[in-house]
Amino acid sequence: MRAHRIDRPADLDLVRESYDRVADNYVDMVLTTGIGDIRRHPWLKASIDAFADSVSGLGPVLDVGCGPGTVTAYLAERGLDVSGVDLSPRMVENARRLHPECRFDVASATDLDLGEASLGGVLGWWSLFNLPRDVLPQVLAHFARALKPGGQFITATHVGDEDAVRTEAYGGVPVRWTTHKWRPERFVELIEGAGLRLVAELRLPAEEFTGPGVVVMAERPV
Ligand SMILES: C[S@@+](CC[C@H](N)C(=O)[O-])C[C@H]1O[C@@H](n2cnc3c(N)ncnc32)[C@H](O)[C@@H]1O
Repeated sequence: MRAHRIDRPADLDLVRESYDRVADNYVDMVLTTGIGDIRRHPWLKASIDAFADSVSGLGPVLDVGCGPGTVTAYLAERGLDVSGVDLSPRMVENARRLHPECRFDVASATDLDLGEASLGGVLGWWSLFNLPRDVLPQVLAHFARALKPGGQFITATHVGDEDAVRTEAYGGVPVRWTTHKWRPERFVELIEGAGLRLVAELRLPAEEFTGPGVVVMAERPV
């Protein structure tokens, strides 16, 4: 299962540099406002708790696009063998500083070398929406093959039809990335098309600071 099977997004370097620039503000937002902290959002926390219960004892868990490691650390506290990877070196620096007990590496979701049936669980927690529409199915297929039979995948993403080009984020920091929003039905189709079986879907309405979202949990059939 070689990483080179996945097409490299044309804007990957721009996305990496953008997240490097916003990383410190993102951490500040999570720590001071609780936005992005599942502990402050009962339904997101419930989803992650259900994932944690489902992967317990299945094997290592990989948090892809872990950012500052908030969810990685939460899962580690729950006793899971979990590590995080993120495209942005600055996000990973923050994750290591905030959660020295966990392991974090710098890597793109498109450039992971995951062994067949090597993982009990994979997360793509608000971290796959920058992937171009034709690249996401390749990444999902890679995740599906990396899961053990019965292994669990959980993802959360923004709902809509647009490819929203962002030029600033998290306190006016200049960025250059596209948020590819998905209709939940299409998003689930892609996940099932990758060979995973739908376990649960949770739709989230728009809130004060965020648009609508969807959480999907799926598993590799036994
Ligand atoms: C909105 S943040 C979410 C971070 C974390 N999952 C959380 O919930 O706090 C999106 C993260 O996805 C990462 N990301 C974007 N594209 C990625 C890619 N191709 N591979 C790995 N990480 C990526 C960004 O660097 C950023 O840390």
